[in-house]
Amino acid sequence: MKEINENKKAWSLLSKDHYEHYKKRLSDNQIHINENIINELGDVKEKSLLHLQCNIGADTIDLARLGLSKAVGVDLSDSNIYYANQLAKDFQMNHVSFIESDVLKLNEIHKEKYDIVFTSEGVLGWLPDLKKWAKVVRSMMKEDGYFYVYDSHPFFHLFDEDDLSNGKTNLKYDYFNAKADESNDIGGYASEVKHAKNYWWNHSISDIINALIEAGLEINYFHEFDTLFWQNGNMDEVKPYLFKYKYFDRQLPLSYSIKATIRK
Ligand SMILES: C[S@@+](CC[C@H](N)C(=O)[O-])C[C@H]1O[C@@H](n2cnc3c(N)ncnc32)[C@H](O)[C@@H]1O
Repeated sequence: MKEINENKKAWSLLSKDHYEHYKKRLSDNQIHINENIINELGDVKEKSLLHLQCNIGADTIDLARLGLSKAVGVDLSDSNIYYANQLAKDFQMNHVSFIESDVLKLNEIHKEKYDIVFTSEGVLGWLPDLKKWAKVVRSMMKEDGYFYVYDSHPFFHLFDEDDLSNGKTNLKYDYFNAKADESNDIGGYASEVKHAKNYWWNHSISDIINALIEAGLEINYFHEFDTLFWQNGNMDEVKPYLFKYKYFDRQLPLSYSIKATIRK
């Protein structure tokens, strides 16, 4: 698919910069995951975890530091996987490994099952087909395992990004939008590369939830947060790795999480 190939090229341009940035950050041996996720994941000690759309594996290593028995990251970009393997070597994380794959095709090449299937922070918008995605998620879960997603809120993605910084809510995108938005701004966090053609699908909340239900999962909860996990313009860091707009406090949902288990 043309769009997936463009996204792969775009993300690959950022890999080396991300590797250098996150290698430095991980060197303090701390965990750099925001408290929205940490509080909801709870005790993950001795559990196995599959991390979908892991980028260069920095969060996979952070998650492993929570005491997982095993962590496996998956990403579309070969270059991300190259640097993810390097990062695991750098920090001697022998129980962390990585797979290069389109997440929508992962079940064709990987048959293992996990206690936790995890994905977070800038993920679902890169996928054109959530029904297929949810089936892959389901196929990777142990019968008593769970799925967890924490991502930016589709409602927040409707507004002009620059205007939000100035306290204005101008609708720019459609909520019910099956088509991909083409953009030249990849917005590489921690990278000087800012421009590369890419495609993004803003899925509605009902599409996300219904895809999981149709794949045979039961929603344990759906939570919404007034904080975002990256600095999108004029925002304050209100807690480590969590940001709020200067002009909005509790008016807008900026991120959400869902936990789901297999329906019996
Ligand atoms: C914003 S990053 C997610 C980063 C993640 N929060 C982390 O650091 O662990 C989005 C990632 O999704 C990956 N991606 C995009 N489309 C994908 C697909 N179809 N299958 C697998 N990974 C994909 C990109 O290569 C990129 O690394």
